[in-house]
Amino acid sequence: MKIEPHDGPRTTGDISFGTGTCTACGLCARVCPNLVIMKDGAGAMAVSPGRAHVCFACGQCMAVCPTGSVVVRGLSYERDFFELPASGPDERGFFDLLSTRRAVRAFRDRPVPSALLERIVHAIALAPPGFPPLKTGLIVVQDPAVIRQALPHMIDLYGKLMRAMKNPLARFFIRREVGLQKYRLMRTHLVPLLETRMEGLRAGTEDTITRGAPAMILFHASRTAEDAHEDLFIAAAYGSLAAHALGLGGSIMSIIPPAVDRTPALRELFKVPDGHEVVTSLILGYPAVKYRRGIKRELKSVAWI
Ligand SMILES: Cc1cc2nc3c(=O)[nH]c(=O)nc-3n(C[C@H](O)[C@H](O)[C@H](O)COP(=O)(O)O)c2cc1C
Ligand code: SF4
Ligand code: SF4
Repeated sequence: MKIEPHDGPRTTGDISFGTGTCTACGLCARVCPNLVIMKDGAGAMAVSPGRAHVCFACGQCMAVCPTGSVVVRGLSYERDFFELPASGPDERGFFDLLSTRRAVRAFRDRPVPSALLERIVHAIALAPPGFPPLKTGLIVVQDPAVIRQALPHMIDLYGKLMRAMKNPLARFFIRREVGLQKYRLMRTHLVPLLETRMEGLRAGTEDTITRGAPAMILFHASRTAEDAHEDLFIAAAYGSLAAHALGLGGSIMSIIPPAVDRTPALRELFKVPDGHEVVTSLILGYPAVKYRRGIKRELKSVAWI
């Protein structure tokens, strides 16, 4: 579904209810998140007065309509919707998928077939956006040589960061740029890890950034897109689960995007669109290891009210 944000208020002509087929069951009105649809005084479906412009073409009303009557301008039943499977999801299968997933960072030396990457892209497109239209852009890197070519640039950037973090003035500016949370993460986690890794990274004896992954997906969005970061992380989670379901392994990687984002040569190598920010990434490949057990983790807190 590719809908451009409308540039002005929608008119009542933007939503129609198929005279003759609409049974006035009211389901479309019940699911509309923005209360755009209502019943008029005569019990027929209508656009709520003064609300047409808050329709963001999410498609919920069309997805629920039993008779295919409601039509939102720009959406088509044939192009933008698909048949649902006859049976619902299998609970056991779902929890097995979640409990057997691991962050995989050790890969076999085997490229990932395009057909599997396409399935992962398909799964990512099923992830919910905070609000439509989708802002998520993907760069699917299926050539391992491109990732290997990128690695030295990433090492270079992190080498510079390590040096900068030793300088109090540079630290002040970094903190101002990235915000307190990220700055703390850099000081307590990233920099100490880099200090232990940099020698091996530079010598080419270890790759703790791209982990020798044969494939990678970069998740990006326009810097001016509203609330895109949350969408991109949810999308990456969908991608990571899809990879696992397909017999691949993968890990979301926060260490890759800042390097891509801040290095012109990498932006060019990965063809990151101008004005876009790479927010997260997912490395992918066939796992080189088999896990024997799951890992129990406690949530920080759970309150029941
Ligand atoms: C938002 C996010 C960012 C991550 N960034 C990195 C990273 O930069 N490098 C890395 O090795 N692993 C990264 N990981 C993987 C986590 O370290 C891993 O998921 C975590 O240790 C839990 O392990 P599990 O996924 O096997 O349960 C990231 C995971 C998430 C969810
Ligand atoms: S869901 Fe369809 S049939 Fe029911 S009221 Fe809306 S348009 Fe009419
Ligand atoms: S497309 Fe979404 S916002 Fe617009 S009328 Fe239908 S349910 Fe409401």
